[in-house]
Amino acid sequence: MAELQIRRVAVIGAGVMGAGIAAQAANAGAQVLLLDRPSEGDTFAERSRIAADALGRMIKDGSRGALMSSCVADRITVGNTEDHFSELAGQDWIVEAVVERLDVKRALYQRIDQVRSAHCMVSSNTSTLPLQHLLDGMSDGFRQHFVVTHFFNPPRYMRLVEFVSTDETSQEGLATLKAFNDKAMGKTVITCADRPGFIANRLGVYWMQVALQEAVSLGLNVQQADQVMQLCGFPKTGVFGLWDLCGIDLMPEVTASLSRLLPEDDAFQRYARSPELISTMIEKGWHGRKGKVLQGFYRQSINDQGLKQRHQLNLTTLEYQALSDTTDWPSLQLKKGDLSVLVQTDDKGGEYARRVLSRVIAYAASLLPDVAEDIDAIDTAMRLGYNWRFGPFELRDRIGVEIFDALLHEEQNRDPSAFAGTALWLQWAAEDHKPGYCQIDGVTHQLTLTEGYQSIHRAEGIVHWSDLTQGQLLIEGQLSRLWQVDNELLCFELSARINALSTTLLDELETALDRAMGDNKALLIASSGSVFAAGADLKEFVQLQENKGLEGYIRRGQELFQRIEASSVPVVAAVAGKALGGGVELLMHCHYVQLAAEAQLGLVEAQVGIVPGWGGCKKLLANSSQLLGADQAIEYCFSTLKSARVSYSGLEAKALGFVSERSAVSMNPDRLLGDAITATRSLIGKRRVAVDTDPLPLIPWQPDAPLADGSYQSTLEQALLSLLNSAGAEGWYNAFDQLELATDQDLAQHAACVARMKHLLETGKPLKN
Ligand code: NAI
Repeated sequence: MAELQIRRVAVIGAGVMGAGIAAQAANAGAQVLLLDRPSEGDTFAERSRIAADALGRMIKDGSRGALMSSCVADRITVGNTEDHFSELAGQDWIVEAVVERLDVKRALYQRIDQVRSAHCMVSSNTSTLPLQHLLDGMSDGFRQHFVVTHFFNPPRYMRLVEFVSTDETSQEGLATLKAFNDKAMGKTVITCADRPGFIANRLGVYWMQVALQEAVSLGLNVQQADQVMQLCGFPKTGVFGLWDLCGIDLMPEVTASLSRLLPEDDAFQRYARSPELISTMIEKGWHGRKGKVLQGFYRQSINDQGLKQRHQLNLTTLEYQALSDTTDWPSLQLKKGDLSVLVQTDDKGGEYARRVLSRVIAYAASLLPDVAEDIDAIDTAMRLGYNWRFGPFELRDRIGVEIFDALLHEEQNRDPSAFAGTALWLQWAAEDHKPGYCQIDGVTHQLTLTEGYQSIHRAEGIVHWSDLTQGQLLIEGQLSRLWQVDNELLCFELSARINALSTTLLDELETALDRAMGDNKALLIASSGSVFAAGADLKEFVQLQENKGLEGYIRRGQELFQRIEASSVPVVAAVAGKALGGGVELLMHCHYVQLAAEAQLGLVEAQVGIVPGWGGCKKLLANSSQLLGADQAIEYCFSTLKSARVSYSGLEAKALGFVSERSAVSMNPDRLLGDAITATRSLIGKRRVAVDTDPLPLIPWQPDAPLADGSYQSTLEQALLSLLNSAGAEGWYNAFDQLELATDQDLAQHAACVARMKHLLETGKPLKN
């Protein structure tokens, strides 16, 4: 049987979640149909207004919103559930994301069942409704092709999707849908049992209730409680900030719905009723963050000087008061993640941390094996669905298992009713203080309920840094390391904080290239930190400019990048995080670039008063000539470079020409290294042609209005324009490095240019002069 593929996706419900899921499916490369209820009107367009407006808003939000690149919007068509329902027949996956009402969802499924193709998977994005209730009365065929796919808001950025299926679910359909969600949509798929709230909301809402109620009971203020929660690694918002974000008015509904569905003896019930103050806040209309207005546990207002001011709600008097830094509790002086000290600190902050952590970790353990398969599923769900820095079992290990087991015992004795229900896993782990995770032969294992420590299942194709560094360390540089991954592959690890391309780092890269060529091995370049490379080393640039050594530095980069391009072995880069300026120019000379979905690239040299000088102008001209044609390339490059434009996704980086066609995007960040290695291996042994041949001359371009206005920006723009227009001559490509060098040498002579560099170094912000 031919392998099922998901190419066409329909999303019904164009609200917050449906629109976001539709966008992510389009980011994933699918053709997407987005439907909502029909609006009043005579034409199709009028009747499809809800979905069309949703798409319009996403386009307006740009590439930092749901759509990763403007070109993705073309993959989405909109319609309504009356006029366009029959189009559901051609879909491979239909996602229902309508209002959370069983009757509305079921009525929709009956209609879908009439039109869907036999192989089409259907899923609900419900956050609370049990799968069995949704499937009640549905045909066998529908039951075999229906699952819950629970995404988190916003679907582009939140990496978790919870899957719930039944014994009847088609295994082939389920595997196809999971693979699409993982590889194409970039999500981490966690399998959950059909239980209320699945994993993340069940535990996340419990935490929000416990943390709020224990703060009130201990007399902490909003700010103190949030600070302690942040120290524990709960989200940056803290707990009260998260209440504001979720909506004070919505939380009691969510909690009540979970409470209704859970057994009476579930530990959730003890905290299910929100305190009086919540109903008072709702009555007063203090609903948290609604659009740009923030009035909930925090309030934002503008003072007389026009500055934003944040206040916190006094939980006793219900008046707003200024935030203050006056709490001098020892616990609040600790560093983030210093958990063992925090829970042993004898003050209110320590007491609060003990209460919240003991309950949350015990509750998490009680979900095994009924809701989640293992502790890794729960930890992953909380990290990726709720932005916790550590999952509950990781928290126990970080606190120190003996310390935690003792404090849990104390808490259970002090307040037994808060710990209703059994947490078998914890009982078993506490017997001889077994940690949740351990390393066996370099592989992470987790403690399971029945079989002791088991290695954590990892999907094929996922490679972690720790796998690469199992190999031999060939060279330990000041700013990098060179690893021998295996007989075919070396990995150059950029290991500094921002990987500025100083002479030292360029030297280390060249040594790695020599080694790869000498040993006839492919070279993979990647960063082990959160930035790929921030560009040329500005500090060094300024010093060299003052000491007349700039020419050597610029030539050094140009020559090295040309050697990379011409090298006899494949050189591939894997890019997560930011690659700016010289970082992008390095990528432009690699034979292949694997980009993370959220990689941010930009030739931002204009911010520091210069033009890309390591072949960046030349490569952008060549790439944009391919994308837009020889008549558009110069105008496009001018506008992109003068404004230091940055792309906000890997897809956009490709669309803007920051990398060539010889690049691909890994939607799932866990797959970036694996995909890059696969791409590298596919290049090994291939007879390579020169990467860029000498392109034809481009059509020169002049702006309509004159550029000169006396500012340094206009000097820069004139120099840039004249440089780019040199691409109108025969043989421009091979002459361009020399022209880029000369342009930068001229520009760097201006005091205003050096002022831009110094300002950025000192303040981190660009100077507009
Ligand atoms: P929403 O209220 O923003 O959007 C719902 C959309 O469904 C609206 O555009 C509405 O016009 C449309 N709709 C209602 N009945 C319809 C019908 N019969 N046919 C076609 N369209 C219909 O709701 P939201 O927040 O997007 O939630 C959708 C689903 O996702 C719900 O099941 C919710 O529980 C779930 N969910 C919500 C999350 C969130 O953070 N908002 C997170 C995860 C899941």
